[in-house]
Amino acid sequence: MKIRRVLVVGGTGFIGTAVVRRLVAEGVCVTVPTRRLAHAQHLLVLPTVEIVRADVHEDGAAARLVRGHDAVVNLVGILHSRPGSPWGPDFARAHVELPRAIARACDGAGVARLLHVSALKASRDAPSAYLRSKAAGEEAIGEGRIAPTILRPSVVFGPGDSFLNLFAGLARRLPLLPLACPQARFQPVWVGDVAAVIAEALARPESAGQTYELCGPAAYSLRELVRMAAALSGHPRPVIGLPDALSRVQAALLERLPGQLMTRDNLASMRVDSVCAGCALPFGRTPASIEAIAATWLAPAHR
Ligand SMILES: NC(=O)c1ccc[n+]([C@@H]2O[C@H](COP(=O)([O-])OP(=O)(O)OC[C@H]3O[C@@H](n4cnc5c(N)ncnc54)[C@H](OP(=O)(O)O)[C@@H]3O)[C@@H](O)[C@H]2O)c1
Repeated sequence: MKIRRVLVVGGTGFIGTAVVRRLVAEGVCVTVPTRRLAHAQHLLVLPTVEIVRADVHEDGAAARLVRGHDAVVNLVGILHSRPGSPWGPDFARAHVELPRAIARACDGAGVARLLHVSALKASRDAPSAYLRSKAAGEEAIGEGRIAPTILRPSVVFGPGDSFLNLFAGLARRLPLLPLACPQARFQPVWVGDVAAVIAEALARPESAGQTYELCGPAAYSLRELVRMAAALSGHPRPVIGLPDALSRVQAALLERLPGQLMTRDNLASMRVDSVCAGCALPFGRTPASIEAIAATWLAPAHR
């Protein structure tokens, strides 16, 4: 079946924007719900996109939104939740209850394909509530009759990311960078590759019911990535790795500040290496390297 109409939940965000652009370039009609129309301004110029103001958590909202679409892509995700059992109320709502509602709505409307973006190393016994709630979300989205395709990216980089840009921004302001968990390992994947895999998975019926890990070509320590972000943005800085106890103090302080640059739960996520077990990307794709891509936007963005 040719996929012509796709609902992209979370389509206004960093990865969602790349996915929407990619689908539009392939001639697909895309609907993007958003809680605030201002979040979707940048998508209004795209020719085959319809923006809908909606609270996807409201009763009946998922059923209303999925109607008339051949496929649904769910990208809703958050990094912080108020504490609570078992994952905290905000993680429960965004990562578990919403995927469950979307799967049910797809069943009700006869939607052909469902793609769900989770996170690499999501697991019921992961050290962070974020990763545990993502694992519960994978189970919840699989409860319906529809067989979802689950994508598990490592950290994603690209213009507008909140990873390399965060460290490049700090390097511009600070003479040195005190870094929690400097030994944590990541295998960053380019946002363009993530969008391309999602578009290709939609075109491949055999990807239904499969789970794919998404990574770049190489793994790095957080220390190496922060050094790279600082250098490529034009602000090379010494990186001072903090010992575990100080990392926890730093996270406990930062989570109390507006913007929550880092929380103790984020720190716990980094106790597992975010690196792929097998090939970096599915469908025989060759991933783009961070060295080749990041220089093109980091320096102009952080001049
Ligand atoms: N970025 C990464 O490095 C990375 C790595 C691994 C996994 N992921 C996963 O990939 C997905 C997309 O990540 P991203 O970086 O693109 O996120 P993002 O930029 O923060 O975008 C999140 C999107 O979800 C919507 N959203 C956020 N909170 C919501 C809530 N409480 N209720 C309903 N909608 C909400 C936002 O829509 P509106 O504000 O317009 O309503 C926005 O479109 C997430 O599931 C994330 O966990 C990301």
